[in-house]
Amino acid sequence: MVDKSAKALTAEATRRRTFAVISHPDAGKSTLTEALALHAKMIAEAGAVHGKAGRRSTVSDWMEMEKARGISVSSTALQFSYHSSETPDDQVNVINLVDTPGHSDFSEDTYRVLTAVDAAVMLIDAAKGLEPQTLKLFQVCRHRGIPVITVINKWDRPGQTPLELLDEIHERIGLTPTPLYWPVGIAGDFRGLLRRGEDGAATEYIRFTRTAGGAKIAPEEILDAEAAAAREGGEWETAAEESELLSASGQDHDQEMFLAGQTSPVIFASAMLNFGVRQILDTLVALAPAPGPRDDVKGTPRTVTDPFSAVVFKVQAGMDTAHRDRLAFMRIVSGVFERGMVVTHAQTGKPFTTKYAQTVFGRERSTVESAYPGDVVGLVNATALAPGHTLFTDKKVEFPPIPSFAPEHFSVLRAESASKYKQFRRAVEQLDSEGVVQILRNDIRGDAAPVMAAVGPMQFEVVAARMKAEFSVEARMEGLPYQLARRTDAESATELGRQRGVEVFTRSDGVMLALVSDKWRLQYIQKEHPELTLEPLVATA
Ligand code: G4P
Repeated sequence: MVDKSAKALTAEATRRRTFAVISHPDAGKSTLTEALALHAKMIAEAGAVHGKAGRRSTVSDWMEMEKARGISVSSTALQFSYHSSETPDDQVNVINLVDTPGHSDFSEDTYRVLTAVDAAVMLIDAAKGLEPQTLKLFQVCRHRGIPVITVINKWDRPGQTPLELLDEIHERIGLTPTPLYWPVGIAGDFRGLLRRGEDGAATEYIRFTRTAGGAKIAPEEILDAEAAAAREGGEWETAAEESELLSASGQDHDQEMFLAGQTSPVIFASAMLNFGVRQILDTLVALAPAPGPRDDVKGTPRTVTDPFSAVVFKVQAGMDTAHRDRLAFMRIVSGVFERGMVVTHAQTGKPFTTKYAQTVFGRERSTVESAYPGDVVGLVNATALAPGHTLFTDKKVEFPPIPSFAPEHFSVLRAESASKYKQFRRAVEQLDSEGVVQILRNDIRGDAAPVMAAVGPMQFEVVAARMKAEFSVEARMEGLPYQLARRTDAESATELGRQRGVEVFTRSDGVMLALVSDKWRLQYIQKEHPELTLEPLVATA
């Protein structure tokens, strides 16, 4: 029997940490995920870590596309339990790692995942520093007030100096880095971590030993400052000096500033060698926020001890053509989820049975029996559910919709054959309601040729693949020469329609968007016509 008392719920929520890794492709997200899993006791097994044969035979075309490109189209959650050596013996934490698709062709899903987490780990390649996709994802974290822990990865390889990397973070994104651990040994000669205490003084030295290929947890030796100096000599002195320098410039951890998104604790690591990975987990446990209350549409907080409620943050269809299923991923906000319970879908007021609840990571699935605030559960055959929707029991609640993000790719969509027009319209409606792409229309183009707007061009391929597989419609796409979308209004539309390189559309949620050819054109129009409404959507660049 599941304990649903407020005390049990608070305890379950308090021991949970739900986070995502934001990074640019190749920074080491997959390697880090496996390294984290190595330190933890898996609850829901990671497909990324142990592939089970058999499942693969049922993958759909869509999955074929994913396989062919070697990228992850799905974004789901990995759950494991972890005991930090820094917490009491009987404290076991539950860590939910929500996967963000990491390819440069990313989609709105990448952003939506960030609505389901309480913290983010920003993973940076020590040689490359901040890269474009990391920057975009960081902006979304900032916008949503998600606290960020910075991990500088690949310290076992030559890279920039640690101070240069911190300067870059500070200058380019205005986030104050506050290292918790400082590397001993330059990039390429990673010996261990100096743990920073008050005023930057070392509280201990964690010395790592390599294991073959980083396949095992790297053994750690804990030394005091004196022993560290004797062992590492000049390397230790440099690290100790730099650490004190950081304190002199105020770069020490401050929990309030971290939660406010103004500072970011920093850890140096090598995901490949398993160095610093325990420290990442310990930091998540010690500093990242546990699942807390979420405001509903009226601004009233739903607390974790309230009856069950959850927000759908992603819908994935056609994962398995053999079963034609549609998986909706929800993050639990309050109460206990038990498989089989009947919940209410807030948007339609209809009941929804949860007999087929699963946790999913990569291609692996397992059935989930119960889940708590902060956990992610996939619901099978959830046809009515779309991103942003609310599910609840007992006490009615509706959470605010997930904002749609600023699209940067635009394409006209047409049915290859006019005889399939009906199926085509149905398909467009379905994909629009699921939030696969944003659909834009205007009178000039008409309904037969709507415009799709996406954050990443791969969303268009997903549309074409699903139209064919699920609606038997061959669709044709033509790219449009626009790079930017701005929110506008009816008063500005006429004048904007006269401008070169601009076209005005209405999105299915009623928002009017002006598509503009490039930023120079936009600047020109803003200068010539300051009266026109041209507001940025969510800042992602
Ligand atoms: P991603 O998911 O962020 O795209 O990155 P992924 O983990 O796939 O890592 C990208 C490459 O960087 C891989 O090398 C991986 O081994 C390497 N890497 C990740 N973490 C570290 C690290 O801490 N140190 C070093 N030196 N390398 C790291 P690859 O050559 O592309 O693949 P593989 O042949 O090693 O598998």
